[in-house]
Amino acid sequence: MCGIVGYIGENNCVPILIEGLKRLEYRGYDSAGIGIINHDECRVVKTKGKVSELENLISEIQIESNLGIGHTRWATHGEPSMVNAHPHLNTDHTLFLIHNGIIENYLSLKKGLEKEGYVFKSETDTEVLAHLIDHYLKMKHSLFQAVRYALNEVEGTYGICVIYKREPDKIIVARKGSPLVIGIGENENFVASDVNALIAHTKQVVYLEDGEIAEVYKDSFTTKTISDETIIKEIHQVDIGIDEISKGGYPHFMLKEIMDQPESIYNSLRGRLVYNEGISKLGGLQGFEERIINSNRILISACGTSWHAALVGEYMIEQYAGIPVEVEYASEFRYRHPIISKDDTVIFISQSGETADTLAALKEAKKKGALCLGVCNVVGSSIARESDAGVYIHAGPEIGVASTKAFTAQLTVLALITLLIARRRNLSLPEGQEVIKELQQITNKVEIILKQNEYIEKIADQYVNCRNFLYLGRGYNFPVALEGALKLKEISYIHAEGYPAAEMKHGPIALIDDNMPVVFIATQDSVYDKIISNIQEVKARKGRILAIVNEEDEQIENMVDHIIRVPKTHNMLTPILTVIPLQLLAYHIAVKKGLNVDQPRNLAKSVTVE
Ligand code: G6P
Repeated sequence: MCGIVGYIGENNCVPILIEGLKRLEYRGYDSAGIGIINHDECRVVKTKGKVSELENLISEIQIESNLGIGHTRWATHGEPSMVNAHPHLNTDHTLFLIHNGIIENYLSLKKGLEKEGYVFKSETDTEVLAHLIDHYLKMKHSLFQAVRYALNEVEGTYGICVIYKREPDKIIVARKGSPLVIGIGENENFVASDVNALIAHTKQVVYLEDGEIAEVYKDSFTTKTISDETIIKEIHQVDIGIDEISKGGYPHFMLKEIMDQPESIYNSLRGRLVYNEGISKLGGLQGFEERIINSNRILISACGTSWHAALVGEYMIEQYAGIPVEVEYASEFRYRHPIISKDDTVIFISQSGETADTLAALKEAKKKGALCLGVCNVVGSSIARESDAGVYIHAGPEIGVASTKAFTAQLTVLALITLLIARRRNLSLPEGQEVIKELQQITNKVEIILKQNEYIEKIADQYVNCRNFLYLGRGYNFPVALEGALKLKEISYIHAEGYPAAEMKHGPIALIDDNMPVVFIATQDSVYDKIISNIQEVKARKGRILAIVNEEDEQIENMVDHIIRVPKTHNMLTPILTVIPLQLLAYHIAVKKGLNVDQPRNLAKSVTVE
């Protein structure tokens, strides 16, 4: 989490930093700050709250420089406040440092520095690094060496960016566990925690790997490892347009991303279906197919919404490919000493490709010899690069903190992976072609649902003041129930729980009265009759019911208060459709409550701390 941006060149860095921070704000928005060095003048401006507040402050004081760094924070150590905001400084205010990650041994480092006379102003772990670098600068080391020596003492994770008044021709950046990228311009260079902050200025980027440190000048850069070996880095071309990271006329990124889904799903399918053979073609898995198909077991590990996609993947792969699947929260997987063998395949799903827990789980599985596959959205992200092979979902940048289009693209890619394995095991050609036919029609069906946006908005009116929600589904729609509940609580702060519908009888039914809205996802599948019984059970207790049903459904309408219809599709693709009304419902409820749907409180898009 936290967004980092830096500039060195011939232009005024201040608007570049502010614009970069706005593009990174989805990573955290507890506080924001910039530090600039302009000949003899060193200035820091920081504030609690959002980048817009920082921008207002800066507009009052008029500052300019060709060298500066900026930060938007998601608080870990120390509350969101001005004093804890980055940049952090050394004692004589000549060195500015911003940091993403956690310095785990900061307390012992702090004690040592305090003994030397350093005085700490903030409660952050980051300030320790500013003073530690200063400690090495006092020993007459260059900034580069001082940073390197300091980092050698640090345990934990970091993406850092440092500038120093006595060496104003460079920015030093280093990475361990938190992403950092250098943007190459003409007579100017940029650094950032992700490419979104850079693409308005350059498409040429260099991704730093863990344990690497770079010295970035306005017209060149050098890279080394923290242990001082020189390394040559490849320059990559980024394939994202500026229009993809703007709102495109919508009031919020979240709504734009929901509405983008016909296109994003299409992009995740493009060029990957071979109808004649009833198979999918996934270039990123080439050379690994035999190992995947012959796996003893498939594990899928992820966090948040991606974990819900993993649950759907479990249903798909077990039902159609006949390989046992286990789904693991990445945060648990890593620490519970999982038994993994070389015959296992582990799929890591991550929109950002940077989630710290998922990345750590990947490293653990790799160490144990399993085949590790990444299913990521962000091209070149850490998980994509660390895995043995993988499939990009190609959903395009997702900025809204609540994941929407990445989820449906993840489900699409999981269906493609299932098809690939299943056709080599026990799925017949006609069955494979049936899946492909349905995949080819899925974007039209998504459009049909999106056309009900205004209708769903009206339904949302009825539920704005509710304080609790239950979401119930069975089979493929159980993970959708979890995802629907997560969407609502993330952005509307209404307490919501998802359950397998039949489990309601084992607890949640006690909560049901005429104030409790229950959302049923009740499409016509093999458990349709069972879910009708569950609807009756809620109705008998006067619960308010909103049901997501198929277009042709004639039974449910009379039992429920509100109904949203979705087209029928192949069993395993159902969640791609049924989740969309729930995304829209959550969105409209949150907007009607006057909340910031793109930046919900306490959350961040990319959780790069454990
Ligand atoms: C955060 C985001 C969620 C996301 C989760 C996993 O909590 O707010 O929207 O689902 O991280 O992120 P990933 O990038 O690994 O999919």
